[in-house]
Amino acid sequence: MQDIVKQGYEKGDYEKTFRQNKQPNTFEKGRLDAFLQELPKNAKVLDLGCGIGIPFDKYLVDRGIKVKGIDISKKHVEMARKNVSETEFIEGDFSEINFDEKSYDGILALYSIFHIHRDQHKNLLEKVYKTLKDGGVTMITFGTSGSEYGEEDNFCGSKMAWSTFEPETYKQFFQEIGFKVIEEKYEGNPGDEEYHYWALVRK
Ligand SMILES: C[S@@+](CC[C@H](N)C(=O)[O-])C[C@H]1O[C@@H](n2cnc3c(N)ncnc32)[C@H](O)[C@@H]1O
Repeated sequence: MQDIVKQGYEKGDYEKTFRQNKQPNTFEKGRLDAFLQELPKNAKVLDLGCGIGIPFDKYLVDRGIKVKGIDISKKHVEMARKNVSETEFIEGDFSEINFDEKSYDGILALYSIFHIHRDQHKNLLEKVYKTLKDGGVTMITFGTSGSEYGEEDNFCGSKMAWSTFEPETYKQFFQEIGFKVIEEKYEGNPGDEEYHYWALVRK
């Protein structure tokens, strides 16, 4: 699955289809401000599947947050380095990297977790929990459809793969792992092509 995803983002044009705006839209700004409100000054944030660094990482860096971004696409990492200078971006698969325990105040995973198989989603959330400092927060965008595995031939001009549970399962995972929910929002409406569940939770 990861090979399809990596190739898809290397070949496709995600920026042209989804990231023309350097600033977050009203919905995204609301979520970022809610995340920022929970972080200490000069917080350290890890962004899993950071993409091209805009609008999210740029918004945080401009507000004094120290961000480290990880992305499986070499092209996206190179673009992120240009878009958000003096910020560390590395190429890698976030499902395979182990981070130091209790090393970040905040962790983002925006529209990225659904690109690894859902059998790994609970493990990833447990890893996020371990990586956060006590009281740290994570904000994650999940799919809403509940699909074990799906492929599309023409996502931003290339083949792409997804796997997701429905939000109720993630809420159950949060409870089992020990996360406390701070904010839950739905982006879009049922039936929309882009319909996502955003959760902001605390360790
Ligand atoms: C839909 S884009 C979202 C990018 C960014 N979070 C944003 O919202 O602009 C998904 C990103 O996750 C990255 N990605 C997908 N699976 C990954 C993995 N296993 N490890 C690291 N990055 C991954 C892709 O390369 C892509 O840049």
